[in-house]
This record gives sequence, C-alpha cells and structure tokens, in this order.
Amino acid sequence: MDPVRFLSNRSSGKMGYAVAAAFADEGHRVLLVSGPTALDVPDGVDFLPVESAAEMHEAVARHIGRMDAAIFAAAVADYRPVAVAPEKIKKTGDTLTLELVKTADILGAARGEFGFRGTLVGFAAETRDLLANAREKLVRKGCDLIVANDVSQPGIGFDSNRNAVSLVYPDRVEVLPEDEKSHLARHLYQAVLELAIARASIPEIFINQPS
Ligand code: PMT
Repeated sequence: MDPVRFLSNRSSGKMGYAVAAAFADEGHRVLLVSGPTALDVPDGVDFLPVESAAEMHEAVARHIGRMDAAIFAAAVADYRPVAVAPEKIKKTGDTLTLELVKTADILGAARGEFGFRGTLVGFAAETRDLLANAREKLVRKGCDLIVANDVSQPGIGFDSNRNAVSLVYPDRVEVLPEDEKSHLARHLYQAVLELAIARASIPEIFINQPS
C-alpha cells in the first residue's frame, strides 16, 4: 500500500514447504517459488523468493516449462492496490478507501498462457461448499487434481502444522483424515507420482486423414 504497509493473508507457507520437502526427500529436483515466510528452505530444494503476486507470476512463467509437475499451494493475493503511495499514508480522515485491482491468476494461466503440459495440481481454500468449489476450480483451471481444504475449521489449515484435505480428481474424491502437513505432503507425493505416470503413458496419437 505504501512504504510501510502491505496486504497479505494468514498463510505461513508450511503446507507448500512440506510438499517441496516430500518431493526432494524422494530424490526429485524441486524449485520452490515462495513469498516471504519465517520457514527454513527444505534441504535439497532450489529456492526462488518473490514478494508479490506479479513476481510469482513472472517466476512461474519463466520456469514451469521445464517441470514435469507443478503444485500451486500458495495463497496468492486475488487483488492488489491500484496504486502504491510513494510516502506513508497519513491518518487524515475517519475512513480510508483502497481501490484494488485483480491480480493475474497464475494457476489459471498454466495450461493456456504458459502452455504447461505436465501434471498440474492446485489447492482450494474454502469456507463453504468445499467440494463443489474445488471441482469448479479443477475444471476452470485445467488441473489434474485439486487439494481442497476447509479453512473455516479452527486449529488446522492456515498457519497450523496440521491440515485436513480432500483430493478432488475429475472422476473421484479421496477424503484424507486430519494429519500433520508433512504426512499429507507424502500422501500428495504418491498421488502426483501416479498422475504423472498415467500422463506419461498416454501415447501421442497422430491421425493421418487421407484427402
Ligand atoms: O501456508 P499454510 O499456513 O501452511 O496454509 C496452507 C494453505 C491453507 C494456504 C494451503 O493449504 C492452501 O489452501 N493454499 C491455496 C490457497 C488459495 O489461494 O486458494 P484459492 O482457492 O484462493 O486458489 C485456488 C488456486 O489458485 C490455488 O492453487 C492458488 O495457489 C491459485 N491461485 C490463486 C490466485 C491467484 N491469483 N493465482 C493463483 O495461482
């Protein structure tokens, strides 16, 4: 907003860092694109820090093409201030109106704008209609899987070491019991591996139509 204030949310990064660690532990090369957190970068993970949704969009656009799988666990801001004040905003009135403008939907750009053809996994943070909203995001953003979490439940989700998620696929839903984020990340690793193997085994079909 100005040199001393910013808009953010309650995400700690714990879920995304646990996912990065789970893949690195299995010997995969991992690039972690992350906004500011208080966490240590997991061992064996390449790290690309960003500070805004626009920087994350640019970083993902630059690197996603060489990835086999991309997992979007970040709670990216959906809106940013139209203008950033050059000086600290002064307390002049009883109310202050901020004008916000939509940020780019990074996950939504993966299939079209970025041309990504690997395994694509999004997250959905919902406070109601969890599975319906997750399924709508799965289709609209072209994902193979959406990890849906109900962030209205106290003690799990944002800023906790624990979470409870459902894996929403095009044809089924797998409900996972509440667990440590590190355990859920290992489960997600297996799910992504199976999706990636299935994707790799679909042959490219060339149809030669006689004229
Ligand atoms: O960080 P923690 O404290 O560990 O908390 C974990 C978590 C609750 C943040 C995580 O589990 C989670 O749900 N992350 C996704 C949060 C979110 O932004 O959900 P969404 O339903 O608003 O977005 C849907 C998907 O689009 C997400 O994959 C998101 O990364 C992506 N998105 C959203 C907006 C945007 N401008 N660009 C995006 O790519």
